[in-house]
Amino acid sequence: MLRLRFCGCLIALSYSSCFVLLAVAQVTNPSEVDALRAVKSSLIDYRKHLRNWNKGDPCNSSWTGVLCFGSVGTDGYLHIRELQLLSMYLSGTLAPELGKLSQLVILDFMWNDLSGSIPNEIGNITSLKLLLLNGNKLLGSLPDELGYLANLNRLQVDQNHISGPIPKSFVNLRSLRHLHMNNNSLSGQIPSELSEIPTLLHMLLDNNNLSGYLPPEFSNIPGLRIIQLDNNNFMGIEIPATYGNLSRLTKLSLRNCSLQGAIPDFSRIPNLSYLDLSQNYLTGPIPSPTLSDNMATIDLLENHLNGSIPQSFSDLPHLQKLSLGNNLLNGSIPAIWLNVSFSTKARLALDLRNNSISNILGELNPPANVTLRLEGNPICKNASIENTGPFCQSEARDEIPEVSINST
Ligand SMILES: *[C@@H]1O[C@H](CO)[C@@H](O)[C@H](O)[C@H]1NC(C)=O
Ligand SMILES: *[C@@H]1O[C@H](CO)[C@@H](O)[C@H](O)[C@H]1NC(C)=O
Ligand SMILES: *[C@@H]1O[C@H](CO)[C@@H](O)[C@H](O)[C@H]1NC(C)=O
Ligand SMILES: *[C@@H]1O[C@H](CO)[C@@H](O)[C@H](O)[C@H]1NC(C)=O
Ligand SMILES: *[C@@H]1O[C@H](CO)[C@@H](O)[C@H](O)[C@H]1NC(C)=O
Ligand SMILES: *[C@@H]1O[C@H](CO)[C@@H](O)[C@H](O)[C@H]1NC(C)=O
Ligand SMILES: *[C@@H]1O[C@H](CO)[C@@H](O)[C@H](O)[C@H]1NC(C)=O
Ligand SMILES: *[C@@H]1O[C@H](CO)[C@@H](O)[C@H](O)[C@H]1NC(C)=O
Ligand SMILES: *[C@@H]1O[C@H](CO)[C@@H](O)[C@H](O)[C@H]1NC(C)=O
Ligand SMILES: *[C@@H]1O[C@H](CO)[C@@H](O)[C@H](O)[C@H]1NC(C)=O
Ligand SMILES: *[C@@H]1O[C@H](CO)[C@@H](O)[C@H](O)[C@H]1NC(C)=O
Ligand SMILES: *[C@@H]1O[C@H](CO)[C@@H](O)[C@H](O)[C@H]1NC(C)=O
Repeated sequence: MLRLRFCGCLIALSYSSCFVLLAVAQVTNPSEVDALRAVKSSLIDYRKHLRNWNKGDPCNSSWTGVLCFGSVGTDGYLHIRELQLLSMYLSGTLAPELGKLSQLVILDFMWNDLSGSIPNEIGNITSLKLLLLNGNKLLGSLPDELGYLANLNRLQVDQNHISGPIPKSFVNLRSLRHLHMNNNSLSGQIPSELSEIPTLLHMLLDNNNLSGYLPPEFSNIPGLRIIQLDNNNFMGIEIPATYGNLSRLTKLSLRNCSLQGAIPDFSRIPNLSYLDLSQNYLTGPIPSPTLSDNMATIDLLENHLNGSIPQSFSDLPHLQKLSLGNNLLNGSIPAIWLNVSFSTKARLALDLRNNSISNILGELNPPANVTLRLEGNPICKNASIENTGPFCQSEARDEIPEVSINST
């Protein structure tokens, strides 16, 4: 292309004016152009989204998904800032030459069909802030070299087929805020070193094959808001009591993790709104101190919890789901719904099925927007308590709504 233009110059113009034209020409760094060609050649692009990657210059001719810095670098060339190739039905593999895009800030291949492994060379792109590879079919293990990415803000590799351990080198991801690695086949111990990442906000590791223990040191991460570890296998391990000190936590989800022992006291966490410890082997009583005012979901389904239902559940104005079914709880039901503010659309789903609950404190007359399920409890057979009928039927009166929290 350049050579053609130069020939055109020779014919039309004098040497000197041609030299000026070339000097101001805004062209992409040649090694980055080569890298993009290599990237394209290892992709399969059967919808031809990258068809204009053959013509002209990447930065000057607006190659699809290629975004450049607005002015030339110290080397006199333009540099590629972002590769935005999400949802383009791309298959094939990621070329190691990606590592030559040395000033890249965003590398985004989300929601394609890529296979192969994550190239170690991506660890060379120390300028990278967003590495978004989620929703592909990537295989192999996570390269240790990703730990070199000291400016990385988001590491999203969730929903792939990545296996092997979480590299200890990730301790060096000193700017990382979002670690999304859920729905893969990661195995082994979660490195306690991750607790030294001071910026971490979201740790999503659910639906993997992780084992070992839950590092108590995570309570040292000052801003940690979301921990999701559902569907891993921490056989016989307890939930560290230190997690009750995670002062910024909004969501803790440890469903189906083979955890045992007692539920720690989470009452000191002011913004906690989602707590899912269901399908474990937790024992002992439910801690009685009052949880955060923001609690919306409490799911303790299918454990071995005993003792009675804490009166403090009546003090949660925003509660929408309380699931305590399939435990060993006995005693009486407090009127949990009395203090819930049923503003528009607010509902409360209470699942107390299959416990040993024999009584109710006060009357059993929850408002219409409360779903209460009591079947499998002695209270259903207690003739002296009125109105149990609708709550003791085995078929669902209403679907129990899924409650989600915004995670921006
Ligand atoms: C880049 O674009 C500028 C302005 O549109 C143009 O003058 C220049 O010739 C182009 N350079 C190349 C190498 O395409
Ligand atoms: C890029 O990464 C590879 C593999 O991690 C490494 O061998 C190589 O030295 C790196 N190159 C540069 C220029 O950093
Ligand atoms: C993650 O995996 C679980 C279990 O296989 C599945 O239920 C869930 O839908 C998956 N999540 C996503 C976002 O695909
Ligand atoms: C889970 O990890 C164990 C080793 O801890 C391994 O034997 C097993 O095959 C893994 N399962 C899956 C589904 O990856
Ligand atoms: C519970 O987690 C294990 C992995 O530890 C998984 O194999 C199983 O399917 C999960 N069960 C449910 C009900 O999700
Ligand atoms: C929680 O933090 C307080 C104050 O820093 C400390 O005294 C207490 O031991 C911590 N609790 C746990 C379980 O780590
Ligand atoms: C709780 O949430 C509020 C509102 O989002 C926020 O202003 C406050 O800083 C949070 N407190 C903690 C300890 O995270
Ligand atoms: C609850 O279960 C534990 C064993 O898990 C037992 O030691 C304790 O006595 C039980 N408490 C009640 C009230 O049943
Ligand atoms: C409702 O909340 C108030 C204030 O937190 C508390 O005093 C009262 O006991 C609660 N009501 C019930 C039924 O628990
Ligand atoms: C609950 O069960 C424990 C252990 O079986 C028993 O000691 C206690 O009296 C029961 N409480 C009520 C209120 O039935
Ligand atoms: C909830 O129930 C109360 C009392 O029955 C009623 O005033 C309110 O409109 C209901 N809210 C919704 C969203 O159904
Ligand atoms: C309650 O227990 C019965 C009998 O063990 C069982 O058939 C039923 O599925 C359980 N209900 C729930 C909601 O798990």
